[in-house]
Amino acid sequence: MRSVIYSRIKGTGSYLPEKVLTNLDLEKMVDTTDQWITERTGIRQRHVAAENETTCDIAEKASRHAIAAAGLEPADIDLIIVATTTPDRIFPSTACLLQERLGIRGPAAFDVQAVCTGFVYALSIADKFIRTGSARNVLVVGAETLSRILDWSDRSTCVLFGDGAGAVVLEASEEMGIISSNLHADGRYKELLTVPHGISQGFDQLKESGGFIRMQGSEVFKVAVNTLGRLVDEALADNNLSQSDIDWLVPHQANIRIIQATAKKLKMPMDKVIVTVEKHGNTSAASVPLALDVAVRDGRIKRGETLLLEAFGGGFTWGSVLLKY
Ligand code: COA
Repeated sequence: MRSVIYSRIKGTGSYLPEKVLTNLDLEKMVDTTDQWITERTGIRQRHVAAENETTCDIAEKASRHAIAAAGLEPADIDLIIVATTTPDRIFPSTACLLQERLGIRGPAAFDVQAVCTGFVYALSIADKFIRTGSARNVLVVGAETLSRILDWSDRSTCVLFGDGAGAVVLEASEEMGIISSNLHADGRYKELLTVPHGISQGFDQLKESGGFIRMQGSEVFKVAVNTLGRLVDEALADNNLSQSDIDWLVPHQANIRIIQATAKKLKMPMDKVIVTVEKHGNTSAASVPLALDVAVRDGRIKRGETLLLEAFGGGFTWGSVLLKY
């Protein structure tokens, strides 16, 4: 009888661009204060890619760390999925560019676009490839250079986001790994958080938006808090688990107040929640794998523990992955 195949995280990696932009730096750029940003968001600093540094550049660094942590070589990877909203080019996909950089030839490579939920979507897709026997070692990356789509004169958005990349290698294993995943979307919210121009729609909106992120922050906040609460209930109910079965919550790092509300729903003390928003800001698809890598490398997250990864983003999209690390 064929045993059950799970997808297990074999290695994690991340990379942050060298340049750090603090709230004090932002005080010199827009009408804001360190106090306002810290109190409303929990963010104190974010990393910003160098002028010639692309999403693929930082994805490559995070990927190499994850592949090394897995004890593998790039040639062992048989599928690459990159979650990003800020690809290097319209095409080829950043996953194809990354494949070439890593010197891998042949296996499938594609991008996933689900904005801040992108990594959770990509992890869930990778899990399905592994469970059906279509792949054995999958590189799943979340990488963003959001600084390129920020209006640096708009204080309501430019203080929130940052650049970075995180990656995991998922392997086919008989040991339990990903237990379940839940993905959702509701396109009716498309105008609340958007970069409103595009290739097919045309560039008419470009004059108005400048090609940058436009967001109705307080509306996004309300929907995010309510949705993430439901998401947590759903993941637990699907698996007959209770809040106390979760060792670590690894949430999307958008805003400390959203994270605290989700932790409260889980009745989880904040010392069981991985928080990096203070140092990274919102790095969109990179935020969950970055937070995961930080906590794996500093020894907080240990083998055999149960993690709940969750995210919410433009679309709206939202989703969770429950796993044994
Ligand atoms: N510095 C100082 N003041 C600012 C500011 C800044 N960087 N940005 C906005 N303000 C001002 C606004 O202009 C407004 O002023 P007004 O009352 O004179 O009009 C005031 O602060 C309150 O704005 P509001 O948008 O109601 O604040 P808020 O409490 O909702 O906090 C966010 C704003 C953006 C921090 C919050 O709504 C949020 O985090 N939303 C979710 C964003 C998010 O996570 N998006 C990504 C999801 S993946």
